[in-house]
Amino acid sequence: MFERPRHGERAILVHLDIHHADSPDDLDELVELTESAGAEVVGMITGSRNQPDPKYFVGKGKVGEIESLIHASEAEVIIFDHALTPAQERNLEAALKCRVLDRTGLILDIFAQRASTFEGKLQVELAQLRHLSTRLIRGWTHLERQKGGIGLRGPGETQLETDRRLIGGRIKQINTRLEKVRAQRNESRKSRRHADVSAISLVGYTNAGKSTLFNRLTGARVYAADQLFATLDPTLRRIQIPGAGPLVISDTVGFIRHLPHDLVAAFRATLEETRQADLLLHVIDASAEDRLERIENVKDVIEEIGAGDVPVIEVWNKIDLLEDVKPAIDNDEAGLPRRVWLSSVTGEGINGLFGAVRDFFRQYKVSSWLSVAMAAARIRARLYEMGAVVEERLGEDAAWQIKVELPQPYLDHICLEEGVRRLQQNG
Ligand code: GTP
Repeated sequence: MFERPRHGERAILVHLDIHHADSPDDLDELVELTESAGAEVVGMITGSRNQPDPKYFVGKGKVGEIESLIHASEAEVIIFDHALTPAQERNLEAALKCRVLDRTGLILDIFAQRASTFEGKLQVELAQLRHLSTRLIRGWTHLERQKGGIGLRGPGETQLETDRRLIGGRIKQINTRLEKVRAQRNESRKSRRHADVSAISLVGYTNAGKSTLFNRLTGARVYAADQLFATLDPTLRRIQIPGAGPLVISDTVGFIRHLPHDLVAAFRATLEETRQADLLLHVIDASAEDRLERIENVKDVIEEIGAGDVPVIEVWNKIDLLEDVKPAIDNDEAGLPRRVWLSSVTGEGINGLFGAVRDFFRQYKVSSWLSVAMAAARIRARLYEMGAVVEERLGEDAAWQIKVELPQPYLDHICLEEGVRRLQQNG
């Protein structure tokens, strides 16, 4: 239904520095984005302007330059590293006789290719429809004419109105479905809360290595690729870190500079896991030249989605690509882990991360003696599995007396189990 670059499509990229020069790395990112969409970059046009031209975004001279390059390179699509107005897109297509895509269109295309779950697909379709509805005037106007068809539309309605109405209807339908999916997700989140399972969410700039780390931590095989936005749907798994209690961990969509706001809104639900998390692991590509800028960018998105209060441990990933950097943990003044240096690919430093997560959750833990009846052996087994047992002895009443270290809510929860009671002694 939607335009998207087919695989191997030949693309020309256009980037202008408007007023303030953007970071030079931006163009590299556009190349990466284009390749992630499956297109091949056959030419680039750069320049600078004080402000965009209202008609073509670029100046007349640049339009001519792009036109010659289209002929020389046989390009099939022109990709602008900017947000174009629908009118600019229309004017450019008319002048260049070639398909024009802006940054939002490009990212939407990648999202469309990556979404794999029902919810992810719905979200992408919604974002596409919204993007499309602002552009309906274009392309569609020449189709604007009376069309027959019994029951298809009201009297005198034009094609444009029909399209608008169809799109409006579809948007409503998707919203209803999305609400249902979200309600289901909220239910499972609630039951997790009820069991007092702590939640960790992986966040980070696109391609930082979140999925690779996620796979390392969970043993799962989530799609990890040298492509942007390989992960689009929140993936949730249970993990065991000895001494840290039961945990669920979620991978999230990669963040990016200038992620169009429509898209942030569309993926708000995906990022809900992040807002509800007890701990964020901010994965950073330590080998990226502009890592500091990316870190700031990710922090901004974290704020924007309302997760600014969630504690963060930074994971400086890909140390195998750096010389003289060894796995390490940096603590803050309170002795809590702030930064872990590791490689998700080689696995060096992963144990350090386990330790950091354990130390992080330990601050919320209390220790207590429990009496666990023989009949409640499965509870005892669970405590061992969680690595919560510090000491154990057999009581005179033939019940186990177990000293545990657990987060307070989990301790309260376990004391409600049959055959378990808290002992007064603290020794
Ligand atoms: P998005 O889905 O775009 O958000 O990406 P991501 O952050 O999930 O990154 P992903 O795990 O897909 O990894 C991106 C690329 O980096 C892949 O080619 C990985 O193999 C590579 N990579 C991840 N971790 C490491 C690492 O520790 N060392 C090296 N050398 N490469 C890594």
